[in-house]
Amino acid sequence: MISPRMQDALNEQVRNEFYSSFAYLSMSAHFEHRNLPGFAAWMRVQAGEEYVHAMKIFDHILDRGGIVKMPAIAQPPVQFETPVTVFEQALLQERAVTKSIHDLYALAMETKDYPARVFLDWFVNEQVEEEKTAELVVEQLKMVGDDRPALLVLDRELGQRKPEAAGAGSAET
Ligand code: FEO
Repeated sequence: MISPRMQDALNEQVRNEFYSSFAYLSMSAHFEHRNLPGFAAWMRVQAGEEYVHAMKIFDHILDRGGIVKMPAIAQPPVQFETPVTVFEQALLQERAVTKSIHDLYALAMETKDYPARVFLDWFVNEQVEEEKTAELVVEQLKMVGDDRPALLVLDRELGQRKPEAAGAGSAET
């Protein structure tokens, strides 16, 4: 049985992950409007991954007899500036999620919640990847600068991103 404290903390993380999903969708819509369909597609795939993250935690709470309290999700930003600032915002968002995952991990250690600790291992590793990916795109966009043709090449490249294989988002992965 999950402790009330861990249950509440995990419910809060469900909110964080859904918020991330909403925020990426908002960024995706922005890029569609700016005629950058590759960046828009990349953001849409990322939004789907965040949904999967939220559902992993949702299932973990339920698997342990806890109560899922579906949260209100704040409205993410709608107005954005240049592509590099959008991805910088994404990177900041990922860093904030990393901190919240680490706080959950610390809580699991402190309360000797071993199932939660093992469950959270996947998220700790995932955040390393998420930050690395966002940092890479930020750096590439900085290299591109005001070079419009190079921006279009990068847009096309990021548009190749595919959703994770079916099952990769299940609780077993
Ligand atoms: Fe689920 Fe990108 O953190």
